[in-house]
Amino acid sequence: MLLSKSLKIVGGKKLQGSIKISGAKNLALPALSAGIMTSENITLNNVPKLTDISSMIDLLQYLGSNIEHIDNVVQISTKNVVTTCAPYDFVSKMRASILVLGPLVARFKKARVSLPGGCAIGVRGVDMHVKALIDMGADITISGGDIDVVAKYGLHGTDVVFPFPTFTGTENIVMAACLAKGRTVIVNAAVEPEVEHLCLLLRSMGAQIDGIGTSVLTIDGVNDLGGCTFDIIPDRIEAGTYAVAAVVTHGDIVLEGARHDHLRAFLECLKCAGADVCDVDTGIRVAMSGDILPIDIETAPYPGFPTDLQGQFMAAMCLCNGSCVIRESVFENRFMHVQELCRMGANINVSDRCAHIVGVDKLVGARVMASDLRASAALVLAGLSADGVSIVDRLYHLYRGYEAFYDKLAGVGADVELIS
Ligand code: EPU
Repeated sequence: MLLSKSLKIVGGKKLQGSIKISGAKNLALPALSAGIMTSENITLNNVPKLTDISSMIDLLQYLGSNIEHIDNVVQISTKNVVTTCAPYDFVSKMRASILVLGPLVARFKKARVSLPGGCAIGVRGVDMHVKALIDMGADITISGGDIDVVAKYGLHGTDVVFPFPTFTGTENIVMAACLAKGRTVIVNAAVEPEVEHLCLLLRSMGAQIDGIGTSVLTIDGVNDLGGCTFDIIPDRIEAGTYAVAAVVTHGDIVLEGARHDHLRAFLECLKCAGADVCDVDTGIRVAMSGDILPIDIETAPYPGFPTDLQGQFMAAMCLCNGSCVIRESVFENRFMHVQELCRMGANINVSDRCAHIVGVDKLVGARVMASDLRASAALVLAGLSADGVSIVDRLYHLYRGYEAFYDKLAGVGADVELIS
């Protein structure tokens, strides 16, 4: 994929029309890694074409899987692996590479995965993944920047109580538990729709999991998993991002395929901010006519307000007719977009985990730099609403999580241009 470096946006166009929502990145990633837990074929439908997905496919191919990604269908076949080692080059590209840890130990009884470092949005430890695997009987050594896991006699079931409902931590441990001996009970499991649907995928591969969609998961290990065909759900974060595009441009967009039940807390906040949100046959329609009203929010694990939509919502609040506070409770440093929004005329002060925003009448186009995936989406939204021309640099962040974003924005009337 040849990637453009920057996006030029002439702001102020009202966005109108329909956007088809792609498959969820954060389900497709663990679903791909679940593919290495069986020697049979797995087919995943509705897998988005994203650089994060390509990175995961590259890693799985390096481990020894045969994978094809044609259109939006992925076929995975992993008769055996050639290595159980995920080196730094892969993990440094994408933190979600940690998702091969559980599947590798479950099927091959060992794994060495480079330790994901900090990233733009925070320290992001993996101590909860590691502790749960130790409790399941693995010997773990952390040295030279790698996590080395050996479970000579296989993993065994146990009670895992997470102090925080870690998203990928829950996914790793559910996958590990599917092939462990005996029963694993995960308490305070993450309940994001992507975790729920990963469990449904594993169940259709033959795993025995009870409590799917709740915070207590009971997994009875089985000897083998088999093949299956599975559909990836629509990406709620992509849908939420385009919903904000309708709000900041006073437009009217139908989010085709988006699921209201996956976005309840976020859509309630949009409504409180003055948006007209309704379900239509093809998805969700979001329209905006009057002033944007100030709304205080605090991010939280699902079903709370998603941290992955905090920056985008902030882009809308920069234009509210009053003042509000956005509190980031999930990550300690997810305000990298603030400086850049201020360069476009926003009035935001950050103290500790809170951003205090005083709305301005308009943002003004500027050259800004993306720092992570969701921050770059926030800057694009700000550019769409701003007076004049904006250029968003380091666009590679956006390609990680937004399929065909240029076509989708242009398709609803945005004045955008890719610059290489
Ligand atoms: N944490 C620890 N120790 C652990 C695990 C997590 O301290 O062992 C901390 C993290 O540092 C963070 C908090 O717990 O402060 C939440 O982390 P969590 O494990 O829930 O996040 P994650 O699994 O690393 C996933 C998504 C993120 C999303 C978060 C929160 C994937 C591949 N990633 O990350 O998605 O922001 O959950 O919902 O599913 C994105 O798509 O842009 C993205 C960053």
